[in-house]
Amino acid sequence: MEFDGQLALVTGSTAGIGRETARLLAAGGATVIVTGRDEARGARTVASIEADGGRAKFLAADMADLASVRALAEAVGEVDVLVNNAGIFPFAATVDQDEEGFQRLFDVNVRAPFFLTAALLPGMAARGRGSVVNVSTSATSFAVPGAAAYSATKAALESLTRTWAVEFRGTGVRVNAIAPGATVTEGTQALAPDAVDETGRKSPLGRTASAREIAEAVVFLASPRAAYVHGELLQADGGRTIG
Ligand SMILES: NC(=O)c1ccc[n+]([C@@H]2O[C@H](COP(=O)([O-])OP(=O)(O)OC[C@H]3O[C@@H](n4cnc5c(N)ncnc54)[C@H](OP(=O)(O)O)[C@@H]3O)[C@@H](O)[C@H]2O)c1
Repeated sequence: MEFDGQLALVTGSTAGIGRETARLLAAGGATVIVTGRDEARGARTVASIEADGGRAKFLAADMADLASVRALAEAVGEVDVLVNNAGIFPFAATVDQDEEGFQRLFDVNVRAPFFLTAALLPGMAARGRGSVVNVSTSATSFAVPGAAAYSATKAALESLTRTWAVEFRGTGVRVNAIAPGATVTEGTQALAPDAVDETGRKSPLGRTASAREIAEAVVFLASPRAAYVHGELLQADGGRTIG
């Protein structure tokens, strides 16, 4: 299988897109580190992977806490695949955005993947192989009122994707990003299921994505099938950004 013998770390894999990505990577032969804050959800994800015959282990970490991010990197040591998926998406109009929420958005969505990648990518480079996939959003490509700060965090992640792809040139490590459109997950169902449905309906495909559909695209980028794809942003948004 294409991930045999590989260790994968998927942040935010206790739910949603991250959980489906962890399940697919494990089905492809990887041993997967499942991480998030919620131990019960983590245990359920690990159990579902093991029930399918895969290998996984849960490590608790809070991406809002830099010490916890560093401890996670230390505990993991070396990985072949890193999926920076954990993210929060509380919406607020620009004039209503509070400072604490703004800071938390950047801590979880930008600072955590930045320092996790900084800690883990040199090991990949030293071994001459590895793949990083950053989970952005299609909302960086068009204006979404109420998502100013959120979209800015993901635009930063897309910029980091391009910079890392060049900073680590010639090492055998690939870095890419994916931009999901409206996807049915625990997070979006808790936040605004109707708005997510409506956004999905506006896409040319006329519907929302399942977490599994997005995970398939993430896993493609992480896999040897994407061996010559580097520094790229893959839109997985039902065509929303083109019309
Ligand atoms: N769903 C969509 O429509 C959509 C569209 C575009 C982009 N995205 C992006 O896709 C990613 C996943 O979204 P989703 O909809 O699958 O989210 P979700 O269902 O809310 O799941 C979020 C995951 O992130 C983890 N997480 C959140 N805050 C964390 C923290 N402080 N520390 C550690 N883990 C944390 C959660 O784990 P714990 O609760 O266990 O901590 C959970 O595993 C996000 O980056 C999001 O911005 C989603």
